[in-house]
Amino acid sequence: MAEESRKAYPGRMRECDRVIVANWTDPELLQGEVFDTVLVDYFIGAIEGFAPYWQDLAFERLRPHARGRLYVTAVDPYVPRMEADECGCFIGDLGRFRDAMLLLVRQRPYREYPSDWVVRALKRAGFNPVEARGFPIRYGARFVKSQLGMCRDRLHLVENETLRQGLAAEIKALEARGHALIEKHGAIPYGFDYVIAAEPVARP
Ligand SMILES: C[S@@+](CC[C@H](N)C(=O)[O-])C[C@H]1O[C@@H](n2cnc3c(N)ncnc32)[C@H](O)[C@@H]1O
Repeated sequence: MAEESRKAYPGRMRECDRVIVANWTDPELLQGEVFDTVLVDYFIGAIEGFAPYWQDLAFERLRPHARGRLYVTAVDPYVPRMEADECGCFIGDLGRFRDAMLLLVRQRPYREYPSDWVVRALKRAGFNPVEARGFPIRYGARFVKSQLGMCRDRLHLVENETLRQGLAAEIKALEARGHALIEKHGAIPYGFDYVIAAEPVARP
């Protein structure tokens, strides 16, 4: 990802531009550096894959690095109560299948957190949340392809032959359901992304 980000960088990288590969659990990462703007981009949900059980400490870890605004973006967690129609059921089924597939091959699925959890965690860490907004999601073909592609790429790691065949058939079935819904509705509406803007509270 770092390599691809460097390649995709628009224009030449300046001396102050960096792509860093490190884990935030490392106390030396960016030690002593402070930034005007910090974008915490779909990060909290991903922590489960890289530093499980550390989510509650993430904003405390980031606090000394933020001078101005901090923005948090995230997907609101999928919840079964939103599966009231065929679109909701499909996205719920797709999300659960993807997570189950990752667990079966001994990997860790992401774990998303709702905005009220993030607001509480921000306040505890010395941030003042100033605004929050939700943006309804309309999932398209690219999403269905990427989620099921991720599953297909891991099929070879499933040792049990019968299970592998069953999973492969389910991938195909989900693909067909997804494409039929996109054809019917143009896109699949479900849930929302949110952005929370926060500012560091001056410490006495
Ligand atoms: C969903 S991705 C979003 C990344 C990027 N903003 C994008 O749009 O592609 C979340 C990122 O959080 C990173 N991440 C999760 N936990 C981390 C940790 N403990 N330390 C460093 N990075 C972490 C992952 O490596 C991943 O690149």
